Amino acid sequence: AFADVPLAPPDAIFHLTASYKADTFKDKINLGVGAYRDDDGKPWVLPVVKKADDLLRSDPTLDHEYLPIAGLPAFTSAAAKLVLGADSPAIKEDRVTSIQTISGTGANHLGAVFLSRFYRNGKMKCYLSNPTWANHKAIFANAGVETAEYAYFDPHSLGLDLAGMLRAMETCEEGSIFLLHACAHNPTGVDPTQEQWKMIAEVMERRRLFPFFDCAYQGFASGSLEKDAWAIRYFVQRGFEMLICQSFAKNFGLYGERAGCFHFIASTPDAVKRVGSQLAIIQRSEISNPPAYGARLVSLILNSPPLFTEWTQNLSTMASRIILMRSLLHSELVALGTPGSWDHIVDQIGMFSYTGLGGEEVRKLVEESHVYLTSNGRISMAGLTRGNVKYFARAVDRVVRE
Ligand code: LMR
Repeated sequence: AFADVPLAPPDAIFHLTASYKADTFKDKINLGVGAYRDDDGKPWVLPVVKKADDLLRSDPTLDHEYLPIAGLPAFTSAAAKLVLGADSPAIKEDRVTSIQTISGTGANHLGAVFLSRFYRNGKMKCYLSNPTWANHKAIFANAGVETAEYAYFDPHSLGLDLAGMLRAMETCEEGSIFLLHACAHNPTGVDPTQEQWKMIAEVMERRRLFPFFDCAYQGFASGSLEKDAWAIRYFVQRGFEMLICQSFAKNFGLYGERAGCFHFIASTPDAVKRVGSQLAIIQRSEISNPPAYGARLVSLILNSPPLFTEWTQNLSTMASRIILMRSLLHSELVALGTPGSWDHIVDQIGMFSYTGLGGEEVRKLVEESHVYLTSNGRISMAGLTRGNVKYFARAVDRVVRE
């Protein structure tokens, strides 16, 4: 009965991890998946997470009961404060509803399903940046929300195509949904400046566009949790109704624990209550209740001032190592005289760099040098170390010259 099921291609990002693991070459490098590695190229359990883990494991009162449908209350409220700011007008005015999700992916999914049911008869398209995270399109397709693209990355300047982005916002149907990366844009590492965000907000407000924020890298872009949440907080201040998908995979190193949160901000407490009730119905039918462990870890850390401080130090360890890798890679390429300008490596921010390498160059890097990266030329800076950056720079130099 299933002989005609079409064979699907492997996932663009996780397939790279599998190929990398299967490769026996000793100098292989994985720059595919966006997951932090230490300077030995190893996964890093944040020391503060280890501490919270020890505390949880020795707590005799913990059990394995179900969490409420909307998740662990201490987690969701701390998550809202983290992204919106403790003094957020939306929190004070009781206009936020938060629900724990299966990391950022689950939050995106929940947002897409909710909008397909309750936003303008599910007729609105969701505009995604060109390019965007490889999974966005499929998530919206699963929820039956049509997607379109808005210009974002300018391949000539290797920076933001603000004019193209604003043009899409001016010409789309009024009320369209725009998915915005809150900070550390994936895959380009190019973010709007605060002045540019103001221009974006002005057009979105005038054209009644709905902001769908994806925030997977708070703490990774500017090194400051506040600055990385600036765009979101600015939109809230301007009075937008909006939603936020929040992942704790990267900033807590909790990739496999699937700790995330979804926040919806409406214009009145009554509207947000209605929205929250429907989110709970969707959640119940899909996952019943979210997984407890990762949320407990995050909650413990966010709600304890000393652990919170330690977490910000751990975050800064990760962010500074990535910045160091940017500057080492840049100087290696400059020293080799690799044709082209490589300043974008140091100008881009967050976990990724969009190198500008093309499909053929990427293919050669994978096949000839055992360096794994996505075909769009994105590299996860966290996969570079002081030990392998020279090897990588030489490999890039070779493919660029060929
Ligand atoms: C990535 O973009 O590499 C990460 O967000 C991992 C993923 O789920 O794709």
